Amino acid sequence: MHVIIFNGSPRVQKFSNTDKIISSFAEGFCERGNTYELYSISNRREWGDARRAFNENKNILIALPLFVECVPGLMMEFLETLVPKTESTQISYILQGGFAEGSQLRCGEAYLEKLTHELGCKYGGTLVKGNNFMLRFMDEMQVEKETDGYREMGKIFDRDYNFFSEECQRFTGPEIYSLPVRIMLDILFKTAFKNTTICLSKKLGCTKPLDYKTLETDKQWTENLAVHQRAG
Ligand SMILES: Cc1cc2nc3c(=O)[nH]c(=O)nc-3n(C[C@H](O)[C@H](O)[C@H](O)COP(=O)(O)O)c2cc1C
Repeated sequence: MHVIIFNGSPRVQKFSNTDKIISSFAEGFCERGNTYELYSISNRREWGDARRAFNENKNILIALPLFVECVPGLMMEFLETLVPKTESTQISYILQGGFAEGSQLRCGEAYLEKLTHELGCKYGGTLVKGNNFMLRFMDEMQVEKETDGYREMGKIFDRDYNFFSEECQRFTGPEIYSLPVRIMLDILFKTAFKNTTICLSKKLGCTKPLDYKTLETDKQWTENLAVHQRAG
């Protein structure tokens, strides 16, 4: 089977977590001779070829990150350039995000199912999983370990050619954390995780605090807000 894969992330391929996930998934999927073509939406120069591949192929897989609870804007822009199909075509999705609980990806999943029908295609299911924030900061060996599950899912996709199986449902992990885990995470986010984020930001070249506001002081910001509110 030949599958067209779109990476729907706006991040360039080199820095994209989705790209790392696709690589592992494709390894599993291609183990028994399947093939694929990859198009990265972040590269606008590929859009013409990507559209052509969408029009001419029946097996489409869109892998994308959750951005602010939904589909990244650049990918939306690309999708709006597609013409709904009349020939039988299946679209399946890999939806991944930073936060770990499956529940927060469900709205995006429901949207993708609707989108498939809008594009005149058959829905092949969505492989849903979070907890991928850190992939792009890991070395090759760590990435291989972290994305091992996706390699297995690639094999399942080769077997079923959809994401409806029990294995795929289980792959999501916890739908919502229990209360004790949520309390523990809240403490971690306010302490250790906050410090790690500050170190990481500095490494990435940030020179201002993470809560820095472009206007000089909070007071000035509040005053401006009041002026705007008065002006309606
Ligand atoms: C602007 C922005 C918004 C994001 N919004 C969410 C979100 O709502 N939920 C979530 O779980 N992760 C969110 N993330 C995290 C990404 O989904 C996650 O890091 C993903 O692995 C990025 O994949 P990419 O590197 O291929 O873009 C967001 C990241 C960015 C940069």
